[in-house]
Amino acid sequence: MTLAAQTPRSDVDLFADDTLLDPYPTYRDLRDRGSAVRLDALDAWALPRYDSVRRALGDWEAFSAAGVALNEPVSQMLVGTVLATDPPAHTALRAVLSDRLGPRAVRPLQRDIAERAETLVDRVLAGGTFDAVADLATAFPFSVVFDLIGLPDEARPNMLRWADATFTVLGPMNARAADGLSAVGEMFSWVGGLTAANLKEGSMGRAIFQAADEGRIKHESCLPLLSAYAAAGLDTTINTISNAVHLFAVHPGEWDRVCADPTLVPSALNEVLRYDAPVQVFGRRATRDVEIDGVVVEEGAQVLVMYGSGNRDERHYPDPDRFDVTRNPTDHLSFGYATHACAGQALARIEAQSIIAALAKRVRRIHIGTPVRHLNNTVRGLDRLPVTGVDLRSA
Ligand code: HEM
Repeated sequence: MTLAAQTPRSDVDLFADDTLLDPYPTYRDLRDRGSAVRLDALDAWALPRYDSVRRALGDWEAFSAAGVALNEPVSQMLVGTVLATDPPAHTALRAVLSDRLGPRAVRPLQRDIAERAETLVDRVLAGGTFDAVADLATAFPFSVVFDLIGLPDEARPNMLRWADATFTVLGPMNARAADGLSAVGEMFSWVGGLTAANLKEGSMGRAIFQAADEGRIKHESCLPLLSAYAAAGLDTTINTISNAVHLFAVHPGEWDRVCADPTLVPSALNEVLRYDAPVQVFGRRATRDVEIDGVVVEEGAQVLVMYGSGNRDERHYPDPDRFDVTRNPTDHLSFGYATHACAGQALARIEAQSIIAALAKRVRRIHIGTPVRHLNNTVRGLDRLPVTGVDLRSA
């Protein structure tokens, strides 16, 4: 198909190391070009503006989740998973997850998770210096989510590597995605060997097998659903907590406001999620020609839904590059929107808010060394965040 001369286009590689390190100037450039921008290097369309992201996420009939991965081999691997399935088949898969992950289901976990957060925060602070990624942001979701899913302990040493690979292979088939494929293969074959008996009694994982026994989903859906839990529940929350500690350290004035008024914790978390979306981009496939602001995205085209760019759209958020814990952007795009909106967001909020609240009670100032950014095709976070000291609140 020939594109009209006025079609907004760009030859940027959104997945190059330099772009991933600081994608925000590139995002702004794409937003300035249009609501839908042809990416020549990827043979795909970027949707960089808030409204165009919401539009695509809200219309699964025109923008199919079968295109959630930006490359064909991984799209094939994802057939039958909740992430890559459209309604009506999606509805039954999703209901099984929502039963155990919905706000009502996770509310009773709140107290236990808050207590675990307090214990962990006390432990890391006692050491004086620590790595906020390994010791706090990773250790916490790892213990909470692993137990809830009821996975056998033998997977612990591999699960982080597998979860990271699961996200990076969703990008275009660059070197990073190609490297991740073998780890994803390992994870699928390990999960493929699990049965209900391997999962702890009463766990979220066991509930998936029960749903199949009750005929609510097919037995072959159990393993894809289990993989969705395991991968989606870790890296995302780990990056959220790492990003939060980093942002509070480099914006001490905003941290002071949270500490002075702990009722700001939910608003502050929304701002952390808006400012640095843990999932920056997922794909969709256009099922027909779709017009977006006068530009036609053609049937069959690969589309990039850019949560991380939409969250910084100056057409939607005033002064979007300012980190402001009182902004309370409840409509941020970091949990997606509509049909595939994050199934685990209630749990993720409880986890991240518990850590922020526990820190706010104890720590007046967080001092950090140089953070090391983690490069992944889909998620945005850190490899290391050395906390070189904290000023504790006097008792
Ligand atoms: C702050 C942490 C989290 C973030 C930023 C996040 C982000 C997202 C996003 C953007 C989507 C939408 C995918 C799409 O549009 O195609 C999603 C879906 C999903 N998330 Fe999360 N997530 C987080 C935590 C969790 C947790 C803790 C779990 C489970 C324990 C989880 C499970 C899922 C599942 C199963 C889906 C697929 C839903 C569907 O396709 O219907 N997430 N998440």
